[in-house]
Amino acid sequence: MSTIPLPPPYRIKVVEPIPFLTPVQRREAIEAAGYNPFNLRSDQITVDLLSDSGTGATSSAQEAAAAQGDESYAGARSWFRFRDEAADLTGYPHLLPVHQGRAGERILFSSLLQPGQICVSNTHFDTTHANVEIVGAEPRDLPCAEALDLDSQEPFKGNIDLVALAETLAGPDGARVGLVLMTITNNGLGAQPVSMANLEAVQALCRRYRVPFFLDAARFAENAWLVQQREAGYQDWTPRQIATRAFQLADGCLISLKKDGLTGIGGLIGLRDDALFARCEANLIATEGFSTYGGLSGRDLERLAVGLREVVDPLYLAGRAAQTARFAQMIKDGGVDVVEPAGVHALYLNAGRLLPHLTPAEFPGHSLGCQMYLDGGIRSAELGSLYLGTLDESHRLTSPAPFELVRLAIPRRVYTEEHFAYVAAVLAGIAKDPERIRGYRIVSAPALLRHFKVRLAPLG
Ligand code: F0G
Repeated sequence: MSTIPLPPPYRIKVVEPIPFLTPVQRREAIEAAGYNPFNLRSDQITVDLLSDSGTGATSSAQEAAAAQGDESYAGARSWFRFRDEAADLTGYPHLLPVHQGRAGERILFSSLLQPGQICVSNTHFDTTHANVEIVGAEPRDLPCAEALDLDSQEPFKGNIDLVALAETLAGPDGARVGLVLMTITNNGLGAQPVSMANLEAVQALCRRYRVPFFLDAARFAENAWLVQQREAGYQDWTPRQIATRAFQLADGCLISLKKDGLTGIGGLIGLRDDALFARCEANLIATEGFSTYGGLSGRDLERLAVGLREVVDPLYLAGRAAQTARFAQMIKDGGVDVVEPAGVHALYLNAGRLLPHLTPAEFPGHSLGCQMYLDGGIRSAELGSLYLGTLDESHRLTSPAPFELVRLAIPRRVYTEEHFAYVAAVLAGIAKDPERIRGYRIVSAPALLRHFKVRLAPLG
């Protein structure tokens, strides 16, 4: 391999203008949004790092395939093209299309989990957590101890704590565990990958205790890339081979294809069990659509079939990982720490460390996110006490989150090095005088999935 860094394996053919608001316009916009970035309009945002979900750019090959989309209600050609690609990648005998990941969560959990059961995970994503609770089951996170050191360079901080998992399965709660769900990569905890060794050990434990083992594989290709880079024994495997091996270890999967499907919409349930498949299929037909489209158009299915190939291209993955790594370095050079080591789909800023003058009850992560919008029109997502803390009835924080982080999610094939340099410069400006940043208080908040609809006001 040459030591000259390679550029991404694509060039840009279609562009979309982005807005630049004045500081006064930004202040008015965020105030009207109740200081919640989810309430901003996209035409008020200069660089949007809220999510890497459905926000990627499609390729000319995907758009050419979309023109071939077959919109037949049942048995569309596009379904078979997509199904064959997904079957080749995952190896599951039963595949069900859904319009996005959480639809798959709802269908699987309501077909598999009973009220009172426990779903154990390395870390549940927020909608996954909510969908487990909606069926009356308990989501339980058992992240590995290494995940708690934000600065260490441990390669697989996304792993589950195997000792805790074994103790849970063998202990008094063991009989209540209805599912073990491994999120790859671990989006809730710093975009950290899960090792193949960890997945193999989870498989062995689940077999021993006869508990279904599923993957929440929204970023299956990025996890595979990090395995190839970091785990001994996988250097000669392709990312696609590693992804397939991960799917083989599990009894089934949920995938939000809005990430590594390289499309705006889409999802997938993969299953081995015939009876579970029959239950999920009936639910799918009643609530999402017939089992050869599941709420997707033929054109979506065509884009997905091509996207599943493009996303495991080692040149694409190398370029994306290098982009994230360079972005991390620019941010650190400006004086802001990120969760180490940098993953692929997002960077997590350590707002608690940057803003020690703010207590968790003043929501430092949220304050940093608002300041990035006020100073540069940048949208991000808080992952701290506003999202994960416990509040009392008057919205006062009673137990804080373990960390006060801000996620900068990186849409696929969308922004260039200059956009990242711009974001890093805005952050460096904040880091020069962090004490000027004020905290926030909650004005109103819903009980479930608080962060999406909460409204806040600045303190002081
Ligand atoms: N699982 C994981 C790990 C996710 O990151 C997401 C979505 C889902 C499930 C749900 O999928 O959005 O297609 O319904 N994550 C997005 C994000 C929204 O910004 O991280 P969905």
